[in-house]
Amino acid sequence: MAVLYFQNKFVPEEEAVVSVKTHALQYGTGCFEGIRAYYNESDNALYVFRLEDHFKRMADSCKILFITLPQTSTKLSEITRELVKQNFTKEDIYIRPVAYKANTVVGNFNLQKLDDGFAIYTLPLGRYLKESGGVKANISSWRRVSGNAIPPRAKITGSYINTALAKTESVMNGYDEALFLDNENHIIEGSAENLFAVKGDTVVTPEMSEDILLGITRDTVMTLIKQELGLTVIERSIDRSEIYSFDEVFLTGTGAEIAPVVSVDGRTIGTGEVGPIAQKVMKLYYDIVHGKNEKYKHWITKIVQN
Ligand SMILES: Cc1ncc(COP(=O)(O)O)c(C=O)c1O
Repeated sequence: MAVLYFQNKFVPEEEAVVSVKTHALQYGTGCFEGIRAYYNESDNALYVFRLEDHFKRMADSCKILFITLPQTSTKLSEITRELVKQNFTKEDIYIRPVAYKANTVVGNFNLQKLDDGFAIYTLPLGRYLKESGGVKANISSWRRVSGNAIPPRAKITGSYINTALAKTESVMNGYDEALFLDNENHIIEGSAENLFAVKGDTVVTPEMSEDILLGITRDTVMTLIKQELGLTVIERSIDRSEIYSFDEVFLTGTGAEIAPVVSVDGRTIGTGEVGPIAQKVMKLYYDIVHGKNEKYKHWITKIVQN
């Protein structure tokens, strides 16, 4: 039986339940994080990637919704370490903290007058996007929700309706993944990933002032491209028609990891194979998250079985 952290206690899964009337279920008033831990067989350990950074981002998301987290990001990281230890498993896992408006009232939309709930759970998680051959993407007919409607900078549960509509449409039309345009017709993100594109030696990614989530993987990949590949990453807008002419396009996210895109709207990107920059970044990333790169050990938290 899995153990969850729920309302300040470790409890068996069956005890971590909420009412169907919960505000966050009715109206999407919650914030969450998605964190991965990778199993390293030779060390018999799980390595959690950038644990505290996720809780710091969660605190920023929660601030927007007037949710107060029950502990500091350092303490929540400690609680997560204990939870992963209690649920230790010899496979890659996903860690999901969620903070939400917990009242069971109808019609109160003053966020400052609502109570907060909090939980963390873990589950096994393999690859999120297609494992081989690259992703076939399309440009969604759904627009990315704008920052002045529901801020995409925050990881708000309700805004994943936007993700779900785009992803559903893409899959129904035979694609693997959706790319979002914003209201200025710039391509800004995948359905739940940040976007990178390469032309020659130049790597570009939408800038932080656009309607994107500031991905932890985005930050990781930008660091690796600069420090390990010696290339510059330019943060700028990408137009719809420009995307087709890049040599490489890839998506990044905790779930999706580094996912090369081989076609957009049926137009082949580059050679249609996984490009050299994506390949190098993928190799670096997988070594780092599995605890095999000393230089970036500060990004991982080792957890061994009791
Ligand atoms: C909308 C959106 N953009 C980007 C990302 C990538 O963020 P991260 O790398 O922190 O997982 C995610 C993943 O959660 C996402 O949902």
